[in-house]
Amino acid sequence: MPKSPLALWRDRRGRVSALRIGTLLLLLVPILLAVLAAFSDQGFGARPLNDLIHRAGYWTLMFVLLALAVTPLARIGRFGALMDVRRMIGVGAFCYAATHITLYIADQMFDLTKVASEIALRLYLTIGFTALIGLAVLAATSTDGWVRRLGAQRWMRLHRFLYAVTLLALIHFFQQTKADVWVPTFFAGLFTWLMGYRLLVWWRQPNGQLSAWSLLALAVAVSALTFAGEAIGIGIAYGVSPLMVLQMAFEVDYDTISPGWLVLAAGLCVVALDLVRGWWRKPRRTANEPARPAAGRTPKSAPEAV
Ligand code: HEM
Repeated sequence: MPKSPLALWRDRRGRVSALRIGTLLLLLVPILLAVLAAFSDQGFGARPLNDLIHRAGYWTLMFVLLALAVTPLARIGRFGALMDVRRMIGVGAFCYAATHITLYIADQMFDLTKVASEIALRLYLTIGFTALIGLAVLAATSTDGWVRRLGAQRWMRLHRFLYAVTLLALIHFFQQTKADVWVPTFFAGLFTWLMGYRLLVWWRQPNGQLSAWSLLALAVAVSALTFAGEAIGIGIAYGVSPLMVLQMAFEVDYDTISPGWLVLAAGLCVVALDLVRGWWRKPRRTANEPARPAAGRTPKSAPEAV
């Protein structure tokens, strides 16, 4: 019996999948958090709609980054089955983006003329809207039918637009953030790692497996870029010396740990994952046994490398 496209908890063979159920629950976490906030003392604050707009925008970006993290994690963690949930996470991100703009329209009292003119006049909204259109196209072409229609190669090429969509979304995030750019800087650091990983694979290892040393170098380089980006950004915004900002980032202050440190920690976790999985899955062969193919490759059904 063919699997219903709405049975999201079943894999492509129609079996109930724990991974898919876990992913669906993860995609529902922002709703759970919003419900908990609604029943808390503070509720959604003085401007509830604005609070919800921010939540939806934030989670859109989180899930877009997570969708981009699936390919590296599947390869480094030697867990090819992860690829099965990549499209689900991407479509989930689009659902939050659609909620984000719907709440914005509600905040504008459903005055569509005003919404259109604001999008045309305010650069950060124009950029956000362009990202939304891009995400909508990618979500609409995320069905098995579209993968078949376009063919795996063309589908992958189209879905590489997610890189540009994420970049636009990050610019939108930075532009609307008035004072504290900590979270956008952290997200930008993660995005740089995700792009750096892809560049390294394309340049050094088209078969997709980078060495632990390459991953370590990537973690250090991206963390350094995050420190530098933060220092230069704050330096320009507040007219202070970037070197002073950099110096502060290296002072021990548990209240405001610099995003560069967290980006480094995330990169080192990936190195640790690579080492642990490499050690765990090392084929134990006898002298006469032929070599097995490397574990953790993507299942044939899902296009790789987005
Ligand atoms: C893929 C598309 C988009 C993404 C990923 C995105 C993401 C974000 C993020 C992360 C924030 C900040 C949340 C926070 O501060 O925690 C935000 C704020 C906001 N976004 Fe978007 N956004 C997108 C598209 C749009 C569109 C199409 C509109 C409206 C036309 C829009 C309107 C806004 C508004 C009004 C705010 C709050 C600004 C403020 O309070 O001053 N966004 N968005």
